[in-house]
Amino acid sequence: MAEPLLLGIETSCDETSAAVLRGPMRLLGHRILTQDVHEVYGGVVPELASRAHLQVIDTVVDSALSEAGVTLAQLDAIGATAGPGLIGALLVGLTWAKAVAYALGRPLVAVHHMEAHLFAASIDDAAAQPPFVALLVSGGHTMLLWVPEWGRYELLGETRDDAAGEAFDKVAKILGLGYPGGPVIQRVAAGGDPGAWAFPRPMLASNQRPGEADYYDFSFSGLKTSVLNRVHHLRAEGAFEGAVPDLAASFQAAVVGVLVAKTMRAVEEKGCRRVLIGGGVAASGPLREALAHALGPGGELYFPSPRLATDNGAMIARAALFHLERGAPGDIAPLDVTARPDMAFPGLVQPC
Ligand code: KG4
Ligand code: ZN
Repeated sequence: MAEPLLLGIETSCDETSAAVLRGPMRLLGHRILTQDVHEVYGGVVPELASRAHLQVIDTVVDSALSEAGVTLAQLDAIGATAGPGLIGALLVGLTWAKAVAYALGRPLVAVHHMEAHLFAASIDDAAAQPPFVALLVSGGHTMLLWVPEWGRYELLGETRDDAAGEAFDKVAKILGLGYPGGPVIQRVAAGGDPGAWAFPRPMLASNQRPGEADYYDFSFSGLKTSVLNRVHHLRAEGAFEGAVPDLAASFQAAVVGVLVAKTMRAVEEKGCRRVLIGGGVAASGPLREALAHALGPGGELYFPSPRLATDNGAMIARAALFHLERGAPGDIAPLDVTARPDMAFPGLVQPC
């Protein structure tokens, strides 16, 4: 029997994306439209995001279908992001998917956006399978998970304030570098000295022990404030402009240092030298290099290609395929399912 053909739709934030996926790895069509309307505001404006999704969703889906050379009628199932994310933005994609699932009589999977980020690397790399320690780092979330198998997730730690990507975006704004912050900070940091400023490594102390929440949790808000204070001083001295590359490099090194140290704690505790990263910050070259270095020759690091690291419909289709094939209660959504900005991570288990 042919592998299932799925359509994945993502509209949780500022990317309108649709993908056609055959089985776990054959990405037949994929469109990602990043809304540029937010650039001038230095961050995503929710009302503008919903409107922009609504304007392009039909075209984006049509374009992915025609790239794949398939029609809606050939689909076996549809997956759409149901949360977490911006309510108005989520509703556009989910409602579109519900309507089509109803009209075609096909199953609908209401996908959790962060679970989908876990699946992104496996679309290109068949070896990106559990067990692994997973670091999910996006604009809205920072989560450290132990994943013994798909669908079973032990939450080790998460951020107490800003997400890692959010810290990149806010610091880029402070440095006058624009939005989104991650890619531009990486670019500017390449010309700076990561050791120029000793920014704090928040929530990282050598006296932390397993079992204490601090051991795995993250916090990036104080680091951002620290950069802001430094910028105020440098501006007062008229030395800000020339210091931007060093500031970017030192900030990036602090974030990467904390992410890698906490991930390695999980690697040690679980006795598993396999790490998977997902979410927009997984596109960071310095993060990937530092993790690969920390894991050493005996370790395995899995990460998505840059296009599949940031928000995309392919990972939504891939996560939907998992739920379709598992077929556990709740895996197929009822047609009155609604978008949930605070949707709970599915399959969370207590530490074992
Ligand atoms: O997963 P994603 O596309 O959207 C959310 O689910 O939030 O992640 C977007 C985030 C942004 O904060 C962006 O600054 C960050 O990913 N990002 C990066 C890099 N590329 C994107 N952060 C650090 N380094 C990068 N190269
Ligand atoms: Zn995301």
